[in-house]
Amino acid sequence: MTDETYRPKVQVKRSSAGLGLFAAEDIKKEQLIIEYTGDRITQDEANQRGGRYLFSVTKDLVIDGKGRENTARYINHACKPNAEAEHDDEEDRIYIRARKNIKAGEEITYDYGKEYMREIIGPEGCRCATCQTKTK
Ligand SMILES: C[S@@+](CC[C@H](N)C(=O)[O-])C[C@H]1O[C@@H](n2cnc3c(N)ncnc32)[C@H](O)[C@@H]1O
Ligand SMILES: [Zn+2]
Repeated sequence: MTDETYRPKVQVKRSSAGLGLFAAEDIKKEQLIIEYTGDRITQDEANQRGGRYLFSVTKDLVIDGKGRENTARYINHACKPNAEAEHDDEEDRIYIRARKNIKAGEEITYDYGKEYMREIIGPEGCRCATCQTKTK
């Protein structure tokens, strides 16, 4: 059982895909790391705003996490991620949780999903560690 109130220390640093979020201490598998926060807007409003920080929560709820206070916005996508986005459906909030033990200094990543990868990153655009080591 992990501590649901504790938030591990994290650090924003340069990564292979711009800035990224890194563990500043060891994080245990299943530990809740951080909440993805921001303006809670409709899908229509999100379509008008556009941007790279839109997180679709439900069919008609999107979190626009572009504000700097949303530290989770620095988490990059990886094809073999060490964390995952979790939907708390009672409150429609998004949390990022470790899916394996993460060592201090490791980058924290989750899978953005097919739609984001197709529409925003583009084919062959992924710069995660797994894709970077593939021979092109
Ligand atoms: C939520 S932000 C992540 C933080 C971002 N790297 C920054 O410097 O602010 C998402 C954007 O980061 C970049 N990104 C994240 N993961 C990526 C990946 N695996 N490959 C290429 N670009 C990525 C893309 O520009 C994407 O639209
Ligand atoms: Zn990748």
